[in-house]
Amino acid sequence: MTDAKPLIAVIGGTGNQGSGLATRWAKAGYSVIIGSRDSSKAEQVATEITTMAPAGNNWGNVRGTDNLSAATECEIAVLAVPYSNQLDTLKPIANALKGKILIDATAPVQPPKVSTVQLPEGGSAVVAAQELVGEKVTVIAAFQNIAAQHLADLDHDIDCDVLVCGNKKADREMAIQLANDAGMTAWHAGPLANAAAAEAMTSVLIFINRAHKIPGSGIRITGTPEEAND
Ligand SMILES: NC(=O)c1ccc[n+]([C@@H]2O[C@H](COP(=O)([O-])OP(=O)(O)OC[C@H]3O[C@@H](n4cnc5c(N)ncnc54)[C@H](OP(=O)(O)O)[C@@H]3O)[C@@H](O)[C@H]2O)c1
Repeated sequence: MTDAKPLIAVIGGTGNQGSGLATRWAKAGYSVIIGSRDSSKAEQVATEITTMAPAGNNWGNVRGTDNLSAATECEIAVLAVPYSNQLDTLKPIANALKGKILIDATAPVQPPKVSTVQLPEGGSAVVAAQELVGEKVTVIAAFQNIAAQHLADLDHDIDCDVLVCGNKKADREMAIQLANDAGMTAWHAGPLANAAAAEAMTSVLIFINRAHKIPGSGIRITGTPEEAND
């Protein structure tokens, strides 16, 4: 990535996952558009994020608007809405995303059995998103395993790695850069079909949280060269 940071839209950026990601990217100097079904709600969240920035900061600009405007104006979009609304949210903005990367954080967590893996019929929610938006939009899966409360706590590093799945290395690289800039370690985790593993892992982590009373468990890739040198 060059020094010029892409303009990011977070569709569903008023929610837990989306607002945490948006805040971390703003802190890293990215300009971010918060998208919502209700532009006034998006503007309110954008103001809340802006007021978190310390005086004399280098935070990027944060503003709010409706989901379609956010998708139209951005260079990279991130989708962070509940699974039950994923495809309905994407349909009206799919045209606006043509030629862009869409990073989809959706995990097919389905109440009431949120701690049981329930992958959709085609095997992956993010693959379903790619099929809906068509090949002119590059869909990348990322952030399925990052608990929102860790994103919101800006003062600590996130002890959970990000699995990045997508069909082209260069496009995965962009998502890896964004994850790194938001304070996370991210890995090329294969083609988009591999998103199923990250999506399934979300329910496993929810189970672990409940069974072991952990506020937000995560995953870590081990066996890295850095570890070998420790
Ligand atoms: N929360 C986590 O810890 C976590 C962890 C890993 C992955 N994820 C994934 O990230 C995604 C977002 O999770 P979240 O916890 O941030 O969700 P959330 O806070 O419940 O919702 C996010 C946003 O989605 C929009 N939304 C809610 N209901 C909707 C509906 N019926 N139709 C259209 N839009 C609706 C809302 O935005 P507006 O009302 O402003 O439109 C809301 O602020 C999910 O797919 C989840 O699986 C979450």
